Amino acid sequence: MKPRVFVTRRIPERGLKKILDFCDAEIWEEELPPPREVLLQKVRDCEGLLSLLTDKVDAELMDHAPKLKVISNYAVGYDNIDVDAATARGIAVGNTPGVLTETTADFAWALLMSAARRVVEGMDYVRAGRWKTWGPMLLLGQDVYGATLGLLGLGRIGSAVARRARGFAMRVIYYDPYRRQDLERELNIEYVDLDTLFQQSDYISIHTPLTPETYRLVNRERFKQMKCTAILVNTARGPIVDTMALYEALRDGEIAYAALDVTDPEPLPADHPLLSLTNVVICPHIASASVETRSRMAEIAADNLIAGLKGEPLPAPVNPQVVPGRRQAL
Ligand code: DGY
Repeated sequence: MKPRVFVTRRIPERGLKKILDFCDAEIWEEELPPPREVLLQKVRDCEGLLSLLTDKVDAELMDHAPKLKVISNYAVGYDNIDVDAATARGIAVGNTPGVLTETTADFAWALLMSAARRVVEGMDYVRAGRWKTWGPMLLLGQDVYGATLGLLGLGRIGSAVARRARGFAMRVIYYDPYRRQDLERELNIEYVDLDTLFQQSDYISIHTPLTPETYRLVNRERFKQMKCTAILVNTARGPIVDTMALYEALRDGEIAYAALDVTDPEPLPADHPLLSLTNVVICPHIASASVETRSRMAEIAADNLIAGLKGEPLPAPVNPQVVPGRRQAL
């Protein structure tokens, strides 16, 4: 008999086919995530769960699913999962690192450039029929070439963003709790403390996971340290930034611009005060959304799921100390 799994949204075919070949899979076909009560009920008899970052996978859910052996998250980030609770129960957790690095770094740059050169404001201007002539003072932005880029976090994606900065002759500084002298040499970047990062950067791009330590790390005090011409880019997780403090900093000219792929809350309601500002670009969490990358994420997510069901090590484990297939009762 094939193992029963629940897949909380339709994912690209390359991964889905593998899952359907190996598992007795139920796929949630709606655009919106399964409501909590439905999710709890769906996982009850499942050995595997393929979750998205919009699904809260906590101890309560795990206890509703006594046969659950593996949780495969279709994302590199896994702040939606209580990994300690999974580990305590012997449930393997997997994620999708690596395959989305370059695509996400590309998008961080797309956001940075569109904020620096006011691309979205330009489009709005043209669409509104306001383009009457060439203007010497029209939509003046800021130079990227030669500016200082501050990276908050130097993991895979932060490093990929730094690599791209070389073509713009930027000074790149970074802060990360783990200093990487190998990368400092390879990428010609400088390690600085957090105060220096916020004070000296023309652009700050966030590439750190969401953890209790990084929650609202970018807050009112940090905005006060930043240059009034600074641009903040966030492709990591919304709650790393204090949204109301960001709104006030943008409104009061404490910083110049923000370019966000992630927000807090997410989705951002259409009547949110941030959307009343012109010095902000917001996208709906699409930094990894290229056709190829989403397919590769689907493949890894499927491989993690199937390995966990077979009792084999996951190709991309979050809690490698768990031996898959040995679910423990608490
Ligand atoms: C992730 O993978 O964590 C991104 O936020 C979505 O691809």
